[in-house]
Formats: sequence, structure tokens, C-alpha cells
Amino acid sequence: DASRKFQHERGLVEWPADEKGPDMTRNPDVVIIGAGAAGLMCALTAGYAGRRVLVLDHANKPGKKILMSGGGRCNFTNMNTGPGNFFSSNPHFCISALKRYRPEHFLELVERHGIEPVEKAPGQLFCADSSRPILDMLLTECDWAGVEIRLATRIERIERQGEGMQLVTSAGRIDTGAVVVATGGLSIPTMGATGFGYDIARQFGLGVTETRAALVPFTLTSQWKARAAALSGVACQVEVTCNAGRYREPMLFTHRGLSGPAMLQISSHWLPGDELVIDLLPGVDAMAALTQARHATPKRQLSTWLTERLPKRLAQALVEWYGNDGVLADQSNQQLDDWRGRLGQWRIKPAGTEGWRTAEVTLGGVDTSTISSKTFEVKELPQLRFIGEVLDVTGELGGHNFQWAWSSGVACGQSL
Ligand code: FDA
Repeated sequence: DASRKFQHERGLVEWPADEKGPDMTRNPDVVIIGAGAAGLMCALTAGYAGRRVLVLDHANKPGKKILMSGGGRCNFTNMNTGPGNFFSSNPHFCISALKRYRPEHFLELVERHGIEPVEKAPGQLFCADSSRPILDMLLTECDWAGVEIRLATRIERIERQGEGMQLVTSAGRIDTGAVVVATGGLSIPTMGATGFGYDIARQFGLGVTETRAALVPFTLTSQWKARAAALSGVACQVEVTCNAGRYREPMLFTHRGLSGPAMLQISSHWLPGDELVIDLLPGVDAMAALTQARHATPKRQLSTWLTERLPKRLAQALVEWYGNDGVLADQSNQQLDDWRGRLGQWRIKPAGTEGWRTAEVTLGGVDTSTISSKTFEVKELPQLRFIGEVLDVTGELGGHNFQWAWSSGVACGQSL
């Protein structure tokens, strides 16, 4: 009944084995695999367009990543999203969908559901207290649009069947007009992430570009790991560069290494063996400032000067690591220049990243060159589609990844 269906779709109850559950034999127009951000958005859009939509997920609850996102407050969009915020082997692929369903459209939906957005950083919109209202909003819209959601369902096989598709699942066989793969990326396997979407792509002859954990903290090797651990919890604004990436955002020392928005962002540009160059005093010419301070306040300790500009524990640690405190008057030009290097171009080579366990997203994925950027169908097999993070389209930190899920979901849903 309606109340059991409502509860099942929220992962609150299972369909008892002796009950039939949603009628799988009625042959939905569309089966969407993945009850995450992109899958739910696509489902409600296609449902409102009059399609009979069935969403399948192997997890016992929908939208787990939505719930854990944004530190539990879901950074659900970024008002400044544009193609430049995305990594892809095919940078033009995301343009059409992002243009058609924009952040203001999603914001309008959010506000219609009485969710008040909080702008934590310019353009970055979060929920005030919890991510839950965003998921509830999507599930409610799916309900209104007549979408069926079936959780805890394993998909065993997908095959082409004439102009349609056939799925063999743990809930039985399903014949359908189209399958939309919205299985997301590989991060956080404990939340249900799998490489299933890539397997389907390969099965149908599509390419999958190399995948890599991104928006992920760095780990450090022994000496630096111990130093970072001693500073665990200390945060400061930095400007970090690596390859083509440059970000001015906070950095956080952790027990394992370096994290915080600056590090998560730069991880998308980092390859094993690369060095990070970190400016601990962004926007300050350290040499000029130190020379001026030596002239104006010669009796001041160097450590005092550092403490006025950096978190105290970090300032003290720097003096300990490099071992030349003393009054500014005693610092030679060479010593000041050494400090300029340490502060303005602190170079560090991470041992690695924390990997899929904590990464927010996957770089790479299903090759977009054989997929329509308007409908998301495989050009040679239009009854098969891919949307969201499973594609080789990955956003920067700040709400861009969800916007991609919404935009690709809507574009695909409208054309089903
Ligand atoms: P998503 O991962 O949401 O959904 C995929 C669904 O497919 C899941 O329900 C999964 O169970 C299901 N599935 C997988 N394999 C399956 C299989 N074999 N059979 C059936 N079902 C299967 N982004 C952002 O913009 N703002 C933010 O604040 C954050 N914060 C954040 C925090 C953390 C900790 C993480 C891990 C990620 C973020 N993100 C984010 C990224 C964001 O969560 C992500 O990009 C979107 O959820 C991607 O949406 P999709 O629908 O493509 O995949």
C-alpha cells in the first residue's frame, strides 16, 4: 500500500519476501540503476513527462552520499557553476546540460520545498542543519511523479533486446524500453559504490577512461607524517599549486597528512610523485614584509613575527623544523630569503592519498565521446544511457558535482 511504498523508498522497511512488491511485470518504460543524486533527478523528470519509471539500487537506502555530503549539510549546488569547474577528456561535453538546467533551477525547487539555503562561501549553497531535506525532497518528487523505487535489488545481467533492454535482477526479469546507468563513482565503497557502471559500459563496447580518487586528503611519509600529526587540527589559508592547478583555500593538518579544501581541490591535479608548492602567506611578499619588519621592529623575535601571521602552533613548529629563531635584527638577507622560500614556496611531496575510502569523487569514467551530450544516450545504442558521476565528468569542490548530477539527470529524463 501507499504507506509501505513510502517507507520502502526511504529505506525504512523491506518488501517482505512473501509480498509481491512493485509489479515488475508491467514493463516500465525506463529502468534507472542507482537511487543517488542523478538517478533520482532523472527519475522524477521522466516520471513527470509521463514515463513509467522504475529505479533499482542494490543498497538498502537511497541517496546515501547525499546524506553524508557537505559534512552532513549537503553543498547541493554552486551558483557559479560552469564548464570550467569540470575535469573531463572531453571538456565540451558538460556544456549543454549545465546550460539547460542551471543552479537557479535547482534552487527554485529547493525553495519550493521550504528548504532554506545557506551560502557558506561565495556561490556554495548548503542546507542549514542536515542533508536530509534534499533527499526527502527528491523522494517526495519521485512519489508525486509516480516513480517506483526498489532497493536492495541486485542486477545480475543486462542485455539488449531488440529496440529495448532486458534486465535479470534478484527481484526477477524486467523488460524495458531504456536503461539509465546512474551508479556513480568508486569513492566510499562502504556506502554502496561499485564499478558496475563501468562494467556495463565495457560490456556494450564503450571506453572507460582511467579512474582516480579525487577531492581526497594527502598522506605523508614518516618525518612529515609525524610533523603533520603533531599539528593535527591546525588550519590556515594557503595558496597551493601543482601542475595546472592553483587554489587559495584553507589547508588542514591531520594525523595522516594534509587535508582541507585546498588539498582536496589540488588532489584532482596531483599525480603520484608530484610535489605540492604551498604558499603559507598567500598575497604577502614575505621577503619584503620581513625586510620591512627587520627595519621597523629589529628587536622582535622572528617567531613572534610568524605567530602574528600564522596559527601559533604552526609558527612554533616552523621555527622548530628550521631552527633559526632570534631577533629580526640578527637575520641576514640570506636567512630572510630562506624564510621567504619556506613561507612562500613550502614544497612537499605527498606519499599518496587516502584513496577511495575518503575520496569525494572519481576522476575519469565512462568515455563521453560515444554519448550524446543532449540526451545522454549511447549514440549506437540509444536505449542505454549514462548520467552523473559514472561518466568521465568530475567537478571541483563546492557543489559542482551535485549540479552535474542534477543537470545530467534532467537532460536525460526530459528526453526519455
Ligand atoms: P551517487 O553515488 O549519488 O549514486 C549512485 C547510486 O548507485 C548509489 O545509490 C549506489 O548505491 C548505486 N549503485 C552503485 N552500484 C550499484 C549496483 N551495482 N547496482 C545497483 N545500484 C548501484 N558533491 C557536491 O556537489 N557537494 C557536496 O557537498 C559533496 N560532498 C560529498 C561528500 C562525500 C563524503 C562524498 C563521498 C561525496 C560528496 N560529493 C559532493 C560528491 C557527490 O556525492 C557525488 O558526485 C554525487 O552523489 C554523484 O551522484 P550520482 O547519482 O552520479 O552517484
